[in-house]
Amino acid sequence: MKTPKRIQPLVEEGLIDEVLRQLMSGKEATMYVVRCGDEIRCAKVYKEVTQRSFHQAVAYQEGRRVKNSRQARAMEKGTRYGRKMAEEVWQSAEVDALYRLASAGVRVPTPYICFEGVLLMELVTDADGNVAPRLNDVELNRDRALAFHAMLLQQVVLMLCVGVIHGDLSEYNILVDAQGPVIIDLPQAVNAASSSVASTMLERDVTNLSHFFSNFVPELVNSQYGEEIWNLYQAGLLTPDSPLNGRVAAPTEPVDIHAVIHEIELARQEEDQRI
Ligand SMILES: Nc1ncnc2c1ncn2[C@@H]1O[C@H](COP(=O)(O)OP(=O)(O)O)[C@@H](O)[C@H]1O
Ligand SMILES: [Mg+2]
Repeated sequence: MKTPKRIQPLVEEGLIDEVLRQLMSGKEATMYVVRCGDEIRCAKVYKEVTQRSFHQAVAYQEGRRVKNSRQARAMEKGTRYGRKMAEEVWQSAEVDALYRLASAGVRVPTPYICFEGVLLMELVTDADGNVAPRLNDVELNRDRALAFHAMLLQQVVLMLCVGVIHGDLSEYNILVDAQGPVIIDLPQAVNAASSSVASTMLERDVTNLSHFFSNFVPELVNSQYGEEIWNLYQAGLLTPDSPLNGRVAAPTEPVDIHAVIHEIELARQEEDQRI
């Protein structure tokens, strides 16, 4: 097909030889199947900031590193330079996360480069060499659902062990190749150690999985894997081999009622002083 304008710089740099076809156009990006030498790869062309729900991304920006304070100030003010910086932080977040996760052994597409707003990565394919389907489009039975759920929890744990939380994990951002689930779509990946929304994001990701797989394994709906994983992580006990059972013990220590009343009293006094 005719080379789309946004991909032209990569053709000029010799990173892509030919654009074969458009795969799809999603909410954040347009995907293409491209040829690089004798390899078929996937090119993700990010939409411009104005075409995306940018304000939604703000919660995710927290804890992201920017190169210097001038960039940080510009991003806060929303100047044109600031928006360009924010855009680059957003795009490089996905390729950074992919590199980090791939080297930790997480099943993600192999990243090659992110250049001029285009991420070049491995094209995930199924056993027949066709573009891999999304988990949502795969036929599942109870056994396969149980196996996939366990594999994905393992991936979530591996990710957290290197400090990364997906932040938008669902049956739409998981592909299925011949070996099982592959995780994609990570521009909003959250840094577990520095983000105040980390535990919420992790819980949501894990709950999305339980919820989806409970269509085939109903008892998963009551599982508490998210909380269990987060508790282990916070206690510094999470390893890729941590055994999980999806249950979190209710606290057994007796409540110190005097301490609770004291806290309430302190809060009340503080409130009084404010008025
Ligand atoms: N590496 C890949 N290999 C094969 N298909 C992919 C790959 N990355 C994305 N896709 C396809 O493109 C779609 C959109 O990609 P995604 O990264 O989820 O972007 P969006 O932000 O638009 O959701 C995915 O649902 C998937 O079907
Ligand atoms: Mg997606």
